[in-house]
Amino acid sequence: LAHRLSHSGASPASLSFGIAFDIDGVILRGRSPIGGSPQAIRRLYSEDGSLKIPFLFLTNGGGVPEHKRALELSELLGVHISPSQVVHGHSPYRELVNRFEDDLIIAVGKGEPAAVMTDYGFRKVLSIDEYSSYFRDIDPLAPFKKWIVQKADHKVHPSYDVFEERVKGVFVLSDPVDWGRDLQVLCDILSTGGLPGSGRGDQPPLYFASDDLEYQAAFPSERLGMGAFRIALESIFNQVNDHQLKYISYGKPNPFVFKNAANILEKLAMSIYPCLLQTKELKDQHLSTIYMIGDNPKVDINGALKAGPPWLSVLTRTGVFRGKDNDPHFPADLVVDTVEDAINCILEKEC
Ligand code: G3P
Ligand code: MG
Repeated sequence: LAHRLSHSGASPASLSFGIAFDIDGVILRGRSPIGGSPQAIRRLYSEDGSLKIPFLFLTNGGGVPEHKRALELSELLGVHISPSQVVHGHSPYRELVNRFEDDLIIAVGKGEPAAVMTDYGFRKVLSIDEYSSYFRDIDPLAPFKKWIVQKADHKVHPSYDVFEERVKGVFVLSDPVDWGRDLQVLCDILSTGGLPGSGRGDQPPLYFASDDLEYQAAFPSERLGMGAFRIALESIFNQVNDHQLKYISYGKPNPFVFKNAANILEKLAMSIYPCLLQTKELKDQHLSTIYMIGDNPKVDINGALKAGPPWLSVLTRTGVFRGKDNDPHFPADLVVDTVEDAINCILEKEC
């Protein structure tokens, strides 16, 4: 397959390239490393364990604070990953802290969504699990959910007056666990101006960390992602209200996500090669090439295409994409079987 890696013009002497790795379907499936990812990542470090090539993980997943994910990835891949090398779908929420100040906000999704928002500096956060637990009978199906365990950190009396105080923002951080309950409670919050059980009111702002319809997890075929949940919520909300649901989605393929990743990679490059700071050339310039290695044409490759130079895209066959040739709608600059093949090609060209 012909590829177009040659137009970057990166100079091997400057080492002015960086790499962004997608996680699900490229580095991991579930919690298992795939496609030779540990070996591939290790090639980006020197023998003494220090970082040699600037790289980060650019995933639409999340649900745990970036420092926790960095630890988990370090253990799985056998190298030291710093928190600054992990960009989750919800990482941009950090920039919204001032907009919500002392407002009550709800965090939705698997993992520890409330802990992530608190980590970002939000002051009054409740997970949808905890919030729902205070409203008796809010989920009429709860008595049939024999698998539900009341979390130990849920108080009998809420820290905030949830029966009086309106929810001012809803943030979906990761794939919701109990879709039925969450669809019901979110419809309540969003239709009533933030107070379930009260009359109709203005919709509080709603944010999604990404809009992936499907993604590659451990099961052989793709699983429904946050985009599928968004479609379900939007269709139901629009049926039960006489106006349309309003929302903002972050994550790839949004070009600003790629811009932010480029900024982080440039900072990493400067910390790896402090001497480059002296070189006016690189100080004023950006990295000549940044490779996005992903498995999802619609998300990863489309994002790199939209972002434009210095981004180039590499599509692997270990996840959502399984085609023989290139994707017809969002063609990548290079198509390879695995992330290890991708790193072999990139290092051969750049070093
Ligand atoms: O839930 C995770 C999924 O949406 C995609 O993750 O790493 O393939 O961007 P990733
Ligand atoms: Mg992926």
